[in-house]
Amino acid sequence: MNMQMVREVAREKLKGYCRVCRECNGRACAGEMPGMGGVGTGSAFENNYDALAALRINLRTLHSAKEPNTQTSMFGHVLSAPILAAPMTGISMNAGGIMSEQEWSEAVVQGSLKAGMLAMVGDGPNPQMFASGLEAIKKAGGQGIPFIKPRNNEEVFRYIAMAEEAGAQAIGMDVDAAGIIPMTLAGQPVGPKTKDDLKKIISRTSLPFIVKGVMTSDEAEIAAEAGAAAVVVSNHGGRVLDYTPGTAEVLQEIAASVKDRVTILVDGGVRTGIDVLKMMALGADGVLVGRPLLMAAAGAGEEGITLALETMAKELKQAMILTGCAKLEDINLDIIF
Ligand SMILES: Cc1cc2nc3c(=O)[nH]c(=O)nc-3n(C[C@H](O)[C@H](O)[C@H](O)COP(=O)(O)O)c2cc1C
Repeated sequence: MNMQMVREVAREKLKGYCRVCRECNGRACAGEMPGMGGVGTGSAFENNYDALAALRINLRTLHSAKEPNTQTSMFGHVLSAPILAAPMTGISMNAGGIMSEQEWSEAVVQGSLKAGMLAMVGDGPNPQMFASGLEAIKKAGGQGIPFIKPRNNEEVFRYIAMAEEAGAQAIGMDVDAAGIIPMTLAGQPVGPKTKDDLKKIISRTSLPFIVKGVMTSDEAEIAAEAGAAAVVVSNHGGRVLDYTPGTAEVLQEIAASVKDRVTILVDGGVRTGIDVLKMMALGADGVLVGRPLLMAAAGAGEEGITLALETMAKELKQAMILTGCAKLEDINLDIIF
């Protein structure tokens, strides 16, 4: 099996939800939500992709970086490459029920582990969505990271206890889901968090806490001061607020402001190992990948996820050879033209 075959099967299975375009850039699916698109005009999704595509790289081959090392360690886990599966829920609404929420969670958790990487799982309007992710993490001996929606604090505390119970390695919150209407319609209200809320939430657990959905350096500062172990520079794949910039446009400034204190993760439009390299050059310690893994799962389940992640890791290694980076720490702004 190769990625070409995976994509062909996925294109059939995802009919009506995702076209599995040659370039997954948010153009054909603009505004398709539920579905795989970005919200409104789709500009936020497109900006993610375009910002990465606009970066040019310096080719360097007169050096000794022959066998680059892509290995890193994060949240007590050794990763074969700095790539994690982004949390995604609502498979039936967004991807036509290619598989149940439980099957998806298991595929992404196991598929990521088999690639030597780690998956995050999400939370949604139906509490069963969070439960499915936790179940998959539990089965994997705690190797996975659940993300809680910005529910009211008491609910968040309850969800943190469940995540700890499942043995999770770290816990996150997608704070940018503060305005998600389906949550409120389903009687699961969400909303913005103050720094004080965040402090209370983070101090509730001894596990590393990840704040996902940071797009400005002032909010990265708030997350760091509240005790976050990591932030994810993210606009939720362009699915929460139209007209937000691409994450690659804001990453450098955010990384510069808090990199000394927190781990910097980023997502949005990461499609290849070269995209991973670009994000690392702008200051990220690692990336999350979303839609491409849903497509890979539609094409070949768990195996598809492993293949997609391994392919990106290989591309990253190749790109490191061609930019003269022997290890991840060598990737910096010097590789950007
Ligand atoms: C169908 C779908 C469902 C998602 N569900 C969640 C979720 O439950 N929690 C969350 O934090 N982010 C969710 N996201 C956002 C992803 O975690 C991630 O930020 C985004 O997809 C990254 O962009 P990419 O898809 O271009 O790689 C979802 C994204 C998609 C496409």
